[in-house]
Amino acid sequence: MDSRLARAVPVTPLITGNFADCLTAGLSRSPKEIPCKYFYDAEGSRLFDAICALPEYYQTRTETALLRRHAGKIAALIGPGVEILEFGAGSLRKVRILLDALEAPSAYTPLDISGAYLAEVVRTLAADYPALRLRPLVGDFTLPLSIPALADDPRRIGFFPGGTIGNFTPDAARTLLRRMRGVLNGGGLLVGVDLVKDPARLHAAYNDAAGVTAAFNKNLLARANRELGADFDLDGFAHYAPYNPTQQRIEMYLVSLRRQSVTVAGRRFDFAQGEAVHTEDSHKYTLDSFRGLAAQAGFRPRAVWTDPERLFSLHWLES
Ligand code: AVI
Repeated sequence: MDSRLARAVPVTPLITGNFADCLTAGLSRSPKEIPCKYFYDAEGSRLFDAICALPEYYQTRTETALLRRHAGKIAALIGPGVEILEFGAGSLRKVRILLDALEAPSAYTPLDISGAYLAEVVRTLAADYPALRLRPLVGDFTLPLSIPALADDPRRIGFFPGGTIGNFTPDAARTLLRRMRGVLNGGGLLVGVDLVKDPARLHAAYNDAAGVTAAFNKNLLARANRELGADFDLDGFAHYAPYNPTQQRIEMYLVSLRRQSVTVAGRRFDFAQGEAVHTEDSHKYTLDSFRGLAAQAGFRPRAVWTDPERLFSLHWLES
């Protein structure tokens, strides 16, 4: 259906962090850092979609194939009539596989930090699923959440695909899973988790030949220029994303290529030549290490699906 003809779906704001405060606080630390949730303004969300389509970035196509292949079994485990709550919903593409497989889902509640992008993609989903009750929420799922029950109080399940759980330290991931379990109110969680593998494969996925990941990383600086009147010179910083094999994570940095000063929200920040700003970690798990973490958060790990190359995994966790 033409998305211009779609019903209007109001996007409800919850609490989100404040970019100016977080950025200036992060640049005042040593070493400097910027929280990775600020990647996702409308431009960053589009760049992330482009990453998902890159040949080197195996995560999205592998997880999508897993969802497609096991949709029937997943739907049987989830059961009929549920509300799906998606954490960090992004493009809303993967949920379509669930929506098509589930028996009479009663509602879909996508939660995302990028309000403009969410409003845009929800229009298309509403056009394609005219009978589905939609409740888009703009918010930061890393903050304590309270999501009111719908009037008829359907059973709620969580959907957290994409390996985003890896963007938290294991301690923070445990806390987040515990908090999600609270919001799900007895329902289970379907979560995508990237797996440890050949470091060369991981390195390539975060250092793509077309430079899209570099543009995504630098979008933090471009966003500060757009929104806060900062004067970052994007050519003065390099994207650097090594794999740390002892911590089993990709670490992402923006490295200053020269000595320079930048003004952000009226404050001056000095960068030495070679000084790094830490922008993201992406932790990788084994099947067992993730099941252990989920159990520590109070979930009962049930089914797990992985691809023949063991690149990525999908876990069904019960409360
Ligand atoms: C969203 N998240 C799972 C991505 C990842 O792979 O850690 C973000 C990303 N960063 C660089 N490329 C993709």
